[in-house]
Amino acid sequence: MLLPRPKHAGQRPGRLDLTAGLAVHVEQLAADDGPPDGTLAAAERSVLRAVARLGLLAGHPRDDAHPVPLQVRVGRRADDPTGTAHTLDVTPEGITIEATDLESVSHALTTLAQLLPPSALRAAGLGASGASDEVLDVPCGRVEDSPRYPWRGGMLDVVRHFAPKRTVLRYIDLLAAHRFNRMHLHLTDDQGWRIASERFPRLAEVGSWRPSTRLGPDGEHDRTPHGGSYSLADLREIARYGRERGVVVVPEIDVPGHTSALRAAYPELGRPGVDHTVQDTVWAGGSSVSPTRPVVAFLTEVLDELCDAMEVPYVHLGGDECDMSWWAEDPAITGEMAEHGYSEPSQMHAHLLRALASHLAARGVRAIVWDEGLVTGGVLEDTIVMAWRGERASSRAARTHDVVRSPLFPTYFNFDQSDDPREPRSEGGAITLDDVAAFAPAPADWTDTQRSHVLGGQFQVWTEWVPDERRIDYLAFPRACALAEVLWSGGIEDRPGFDARLRHHLTRLDALGVEYRPLDGPLPWQQGGEGVWKRTSTDTIGATRTWVESVADAP
Ligand code: ACM
Repeated sequence: MLLPRPKHAGQRPGRLDLTAGLAVHVEQLAADDGPPDGTLAAAERSVLRAVARLGLLAGHPRDDAHPVPLQVRVGRRADDPTGTAHTLDVTPEGITIEATDLESVSHALTTLAQLLPPSALRAAGLGASGASDEVLDVPCGRVEDSPRYPWRGGMLDVVRHFAPKRTVLRYIDLLAAHRFNRMHLHLTDDQGWRIASERFPRLAEVGSWRPSTRLGPDGEHDRTPHGGSYSLADLREIARYGRERGVVVVPEIDVPGHTSALRAAYPELGRPGVDHTVQDTVWAGGSSVSPTRPVVAFLTEVLDELCDAMEVPYVHLGGDECDMSWWAEDPAITGEMAEHGYSEPSQMHAHLLRALASHLAARGVRAIVWDEGLVTGGVLEDTIVMAWRGERASSRAARTHDVVRSPLFPTYFNFDQSDDPREPRSEGGAITLDDVAAFAPAPADWTDTQRSHVLGGQFQVWTEWVPDERRIDYLAFPRACALAEVLWSGGIEDRPGFDARLRHHLTRLDALGVEYRPLDGPLPWQQGGEGVWKRTSTDTIGATRTWVESVADAP
């Protein structure tokens, strides 16, 4: 009943009795020349934490019996050149895990948790909740597993609606529980700036809140302030929390478009003589900072602060939906264009993104852009492209660049889950569990080169209509369960088998307290009702798909 489906899972006769709990031993795999410094200590912390969380740490609460050994060997194996595999063996004598690094240790711990009854996932751990499925033994067997794609992510927009730190950390836990290994955190946009820069304090003081939020397309405002930001210490904590759970946090500073909050804080970075405010409508396009040297210098300092705090291998620079209409009329911008010999404002879009990506590269950080960045040329050779504007944009990007597949259809989980009129207000148009289950990250009609550029994919939760964690849960699950299997296993081959495993998996989500959308429709309190959350959009996903493909060539 593992989800995602493992490469190999075989049962052996016998069961392992866990009544006395697990005694944890973490060591280096004999054949390895040594994992990087600190890996073993961090792996030990992860294993102890996970085993304690399951209620299985020896001595608690069953301290009069002999604990069962849980041997965890960490290191690279000769037969696993990509270094992402893990194995888990359960015998009547104990459990042995072999894993290459912190991430695959985390995957193995997820496997172990899934071999236990779902009630093991309750906060009180196994044995504490009195549930009838609490058999304290597991069947013997061996799991051998490794992922098909190296990038398996979930994006969370913490701008349209702010998510408190505890929600972000919980999101990381839920990603890890599905063997996702990337959390993309969309930290800046027109509706707020969520990084409490110490170098530029107005970013948080001014940019991190708005006096009101427009709740519906009919223009209803709540007239209640909304905001929040993460301190650099919070961001460091979030990144480290992710690392120890095998989830790389990918922060995004979205420039040069989607920058109303940045311009509200520092108007000199934007269009002279224009009023700049943090947007109170959840959707707002048509904003941008200037792409000139002083702005590059400002953003470089912000990036340095962010990278110093988070120590991340990737930073997303945005690049999407930028209003360049005023750039050709601004003397500072046209002056710089002349210096560079540029004739088109879009060349300045590319120039800014490349300058920032080069700065990141000098720090050993790889840049990511939305696919507009590829259209204008705002990419270095190793820049990763997130192609959101449909299949054509993805296919084009994969000819030359590594791609993380994030097409609106079917990875934008902020769209409705079905055409049921009871669905709460979201973007309008349905992206169903079936649509996600059928997603092909590397389509069969792509060339080998294109297919080899596919790093993987991710789902996105944009939060225009997502006020809190309950709605995040609703939109993300169970669609994320299907995407997890697509990205881990390469596709869902046996759909009835997946459906059976998903039904069981939903009882795990119940134990974790995840308020997913039930397979047969929303619960009464998950529906839109007759108020501002009533679904009024008549958009169909077909029309939206046609629109997004039609804008795929725009810079
Ligand atoms: C996007 O949806 N503008 C990336």
